[in-house]
Formats: sequence, C-alpha cells, structure tokens
Amino acid sequence: MSKVVICGAGFLGTNIARAITSAPTGSPPRRIQISSRHPEKAHSILAATAQKELLLPPISLDVTKPESLLPAFKDTSVIVSLVGLLAGTPEQFNKIQWKGAENVAKAANEVGAKLIHISAIGADVKSTIPYMRTKGLAEQSIASICHDSIIIRPSLVFGPDDDFFNRFSRLARYLPVLPVFSGGLSRFQPVYVGDIAKAVELLSRGDENTKHMFTCKVVEAGGPEVFTFKEMMKLVLKYNKRTRPIISLPLSVGLLQAALMEKLPPNMFTVTKDQLQQLSMDNIVSDSMPLNHITLQQLFKDASLGPLTSVHDILPSYL
Ligand SMILES: NC(=O)c1ccc[n+]([C@@H]2O[C@H](COP(=O)([O-])OP(=O)(O)OC[C@H]3O[C@@H](n4cnc5c(N)ncnc54)[C@H](OP(=O)(O)O)[C@@H]3O)[C@@H](O)[C@H]2O)c1
Repeated sequence: MSKVVICGAGFLGTNIARAITSAPTGSPPRRIQISSRHPEKAHSILAATAQKELLLPPISLDVTKPESLLPAFKDTSVIVSLVGLLAGTPEQFNKIQWKGAENVAKAANEVGAKLIHISAIGADVKSTIPYMRTKGLAEQSIASICHDSIIIRPSLVFGPDDDFFNRFSRLARYLPVLPVFSGGLSRFQPVYVGDIAKAVELLSRGDENTKHMFTCKVVEAGGPEVFTFKEMMKLVLKYNKRTRPIISLPLSVGLLQAALMEKLPPNMFTVTKDQLQQLSMDNIVSDSMPLNHITLQQLFKDASLGPLTSVHDILPSYL
C-alpha cells in the first residue's frame, strides 16, 4: 500500500489526513504518516477515527533541518508540504516558508515522491510582506526542483478549528464593537477546509488520469462566494448570534495598535502589522490566470467532485 506523508500537522494537515484515511470507495487505500516538530496531538486526534492499518505512527521532523527529512520520507509516494507560519520575523519566514519548503522539495525529489505543496493566494516574490514573498519564493524553488509537483494556493480557509472565523467570533464575545480598517472593503473567497482536503485526496491517488489532468498545475483555491472583510464580520455576528456595531477605523490606527501588540506576548487580540496589511489586500482567485493555473472550482468540475461548500453551510455548526 502506498504511503503519503503529511508534512505539517496543523489545521489543514489534520483535515487532509482524515480525508485520505476515509477516502471514498473506489479510491486506492493509502497509509498516512503525520509529521511536524510535535505531531503527536494531531496523530491522537486522527487515531480516534482512522482505520488502524491506514495510520502510521507520527514522525518528528523539522523542515529547517534537511537531515531530519530523508528518514521520514523513505518509501513515500506522495508528500503534502504544509509547513507555514502566521506570524514571525522576516528571517523566520525565510527559514521556514522558503528554505524549509525548498528542503522538503529536495528531499521529495531524492526519494522520488510526488510533491503537493500548499502555498497561498497572493504568493509573490516581489511582495514587501514576508509571508507573501516567501510563499512566492518557495513556489519558484519548487518549480525548479520538482518538475511534476502540484501547488495549491488557498484563499482564507474556514472550518471547525480555523484561526480566522473562530478568532473574530471570540473577539465579538469580548469587544463591544468589531473594528474593520479602511471600510473593510478588501475581498476574500473563503474556501472550506473539507474541499481542500477532498482535492488533495484526489491528487494523492497517483492514477494516470489524475496525473494527466493536474500534474504541474497551480490550483487557485477560492470558495464559491466572494465577501468583503466587513461582510465576513457580518457573517461572524450572524452565526454567533451577537449584535455588535462594526466600526471602520483608518488603517494607520490599526498599524499603531499592531505595533504595540507585537511587543506583548501573543494573545487573541494580537494581529501583526504584516497580517493587517495582508487583510487589507484582496485575496481572491485572479481573473486572468497563467495557462498552468486552474481554479479549485474547475478541478472539482473536471474530477466530478460536486459543488464547492458555502460558508453558510458550515459556519453555523461551529461559531
Ligand atoms: N489556514 C488558512 O487560512 C490558510 C490560507 C492559505 C494558505 N495556508 C497555508 O496552508 C498551510 C497550512 O496552514 P494551517 O492553517 O494548517 O497552519 P497550522 O495549523 O499553523 O499548521 C502549520 C504546521 O506547521 C508545523 N511546523 C511549523 N514549523 C515547522 C518546522 N520548522 N518543521 C516542521 N513542521 C513545522 C506546525 O507543527 P509543529 O509546531 O508541531 O512543528 C504546524 O502543525 C500553511 O503553509 C499556510 O500558509 C493556510
């Protein structure tokens, strides 16, 4: 039975592992190995429901330490590369999101495994925001190292345990108002974690048809609806059943607050200056995509995976 290593045992990694261990009838059974620096928690969550023979023991690795990767990737047919950071110094972003992803790609190449890499919409080597720049640099490195890789670029990912909607839902509990910056007009295309997991399950099957259709593609993964930031705050209030005024503040006020919060230990109010800049930019599938890019919607259509999931179907279940 082939082996898939999930490299990054967080929100997406756990959901992708679950989708592969409970793949639909007719798809090939695969053994899953979950890995990160501390993968035990994700493994024990998965062990509660996964078939025993499909879940291998968790394995510790650090993408910044190439020597820790080869033993973990031995005899692997697919590696799903998910390691990322939400906040950090530019050096940490370089080390983990760029060079770390590059180390994973080199090791995948060395063991002959197919690489599915999770990037992000907005990945851009020219960006001044370290998160976006290092996502772009990693994509560039991967394209030159693994010639048959698949890159998935999600917009904001939602689902139970997500960071974004849960955090704003908690904030709405404690704050008398919900702030948005510069009118909250930036646009997002939230995509369901279960739909990303479904796509990765399909892409990790390794059959000729799937390979033929999707190898070397960059999948721009937006959900079925586009919302402004302010509209997403309204969704939070609608589904957690709270009434709060949404007030717009100048971005400069947010940046000042972020500069102060960055100096304190991280807490639920912490938003970094870079994260604020990111949230004030559009994060949607682009209208004019290069030839090798496809949308998640197209992938779902081509592979007969059904419709993409709406926020309205899922947010009420966990906010
Ligand atoms: N969530 C979203 O809305 C979203 C949107 C677009 C793109 N993405 C991208 O999708 C990927 C997964 O996101 P996520 O939300 O699942 O993130 P997450 O929950 O924070 O998971 C990231 C994982 O990376 C592991 N990790 C961090 N540094 C590591 C290192 N040096 N070596 C090995 N493992 C390391 C962490 O586990 P340990 O601490 O145990 O090492 C953690 O399990 C990221 O690349 C992210 O940028 C996410």
